[in-house]
Amino acid sequence: MATEIPTCRWGVVSTGLISSWFVEDLMLNRPDAKAKHIIQCIGSSSLEKGKDFAAKHCPSANPTIYASYDQVYSDPDVDCVYIGTPHSFHKSNCLGAIAAGKNVLCEKSFTINAREAREVLDAAKKKGVYVHEAMWLRHRPLVTELRKLLFQDQVIGDVFRMSSDFSLLVHIPSLPDTSRYKDPKLGAGTLLDTGIYPLTWAFLALDPNTPENSERPTVLATQSHLHGVEVTSSILIQYPSTGRQGIVSSTTMSGGMGDVVCRIQGTEGYIDVHGAAPSHPLSFTVYRRKENTKNDFESKHYDYPRIGRGFFYEADNTALDIAAGRKENEIMPWKETIRVMEIMDEIRKQGGTKYPQDEVLGGLMSIGSLAS
Ligand SMILES: NC(=O)c1ccc[n+]([C@@H]2O[C@H](COP(=O)([O-])OP(=O)(O)OC[C@H]3O[C@@H](n4cnc5c(N)ncnc54)[C@H](OP(=O)(O)O)[C@@H]3O)[C@@H](O)[C@H]2O)c1
Repeated sequence: MATEIPTCRWGVVSTGLISSWFVEDLMLNRPDAKAKHIIQCIGSSSLEKGKDFAAKHCPSANPTIYASYDQVYSDPDVDCVYIGTPHSFHKSNCLGAIAAGKNVLCEKSFTINAREAREVLDAAKKKGVYVHEAMWLRHRPLVTELRKLLFQDQVIGDVFRMSSDFSLLVHIPSLPDTSRYKDPKLGAGTLLDTGIYPLTWAFLALDPNTPENSERPTVLATQSHLHGVEVTSSILIQYPSTGRQGIVSSTTMSGGMGDVVCRIQGTEGYIDVHGAAPSHPLSFTVYRRKENTKNDFESKHYDYPRIGRGFFYEADNTALDIAAGRKENEIMPWKETIRVMEIMDEIRKQGGTKYPQDEVLGGLMSIGSLAS
C-alpha cells in the first residue's frame, strides 16, 4: 500500500523575488516529493500585483488573491503562512499570522535583531503554533552529506578552518530610496541579507553539534558603510573548544568571485563547495592528500540533482513537521534562530551598524546587551 504523504496549503505573504522563487519550487512536479503543496492564497499590497504574480509564477494553482496580508492570516484553508517580505517586516508579519493561530515559515534573516526574534518565538510558544526560519541552505541533501563526510567519516581529517564569501554588485545610489537595499528602516546591509549565508557555512563546517546544541563561537568583525548602508562585512570566527576558525565576508561592492562558495580545510585535505552563491551550493569536491605527499591530492566530486532552485526541501520538511504536530524544525530550531540573530547582533555591534528597530522605548538599546 502506498504511504500517504502530507498536504500543506500555503498562504503566501508578499509578491517579491523570493516569494516567486519559493512558489515556483512548490509548483514543481516531483514524483519523489515528501509532501504535497497547494498554493491556497497570495496576499499583496495590491490586488493587481497579486494577480500578476499568480499568473506568472503559479498559473495552474489558481490561488485566491487578497489585497492584504491579514486576509491570508485569517483564511481558514491555510495551513502555513510563508512570509517573503523584507526582514524589517518579519516581526509584525509573524506576529499577525501567529495571533490568527497560523503556522509560519518566515524568510531569513528571521528578524532585524535577537530581541525581535525572541518576541516572535515567545508569541508562537504562547499560541502553540509552528514557526520555522526559512534557512533553505541547511535543508539541502548536499549539506547533510557534507557534514557526514566531515564529522563522521573525517574525509579531510580534523577540520581546522573554513572560508566563505558572498559578493554581489549592487549600485546603491541608483536605487530608489524605498529599496530594501538602500533604506536602513528596511534592514539594508549585507550581513542580514547575504552575509548570513557565509556565516551559516561557518556553523555547518566547523561545529559537529546538532543545531539544538551548537557551540557559540567568538567573533571579531569589521563593517564598512557607504551612503549610510553597511556594504562590506568581514568576520573572523573561532570555536573555543576546538580552535577551529572561519573567515567569512559579504559585500555589495563587487560580484563574480568564481564558483567556490565555501572552502573547508582539514589536516588531511580540503573540500571546495561549488555553486552560484553561498546560498545555492550545487556540488562539492573532496581533495584528500595522498599518503606520504605534501601537496598531491586525490579528488572525488559529489554532484546533486538540479531540480528547481531547491526551496522545496525546506517546504517539504515544514509540511512534515506540521503534519506530525511539531512546533519547531529540528534543522533550524528556535534556539538556533535566536543564536544566529545574537551572533549577528554582536557583529553589528563591533561593526557599528545600527537599525532604527534597535531603538527601544526610552533610548537606544545596546545591541551588545542582546548577545549576553
Ligand atoms: N532565501 C533566499 O535565498 C532569499 C533570497 C532573496 C531574499 N530573501 C529574503 O526574502 C526577503 C524579501 O526579499 P526579496 O528580495 O524577495 O524582496 P523584494 O523583491 O523587494 O520583495 C519584497 C516584497 O515585500 C512586500 N513589501 C511589503 N512592504 C514593503 C516595503 N515597504 N518595501 C518593499 N517591499 C515591501 C512587497 O510585496 P507586496 O507589494 O506584494 O506586498 C515586495 O514585493 C528578505 O528578508 C530577504 O532577506 C531570501
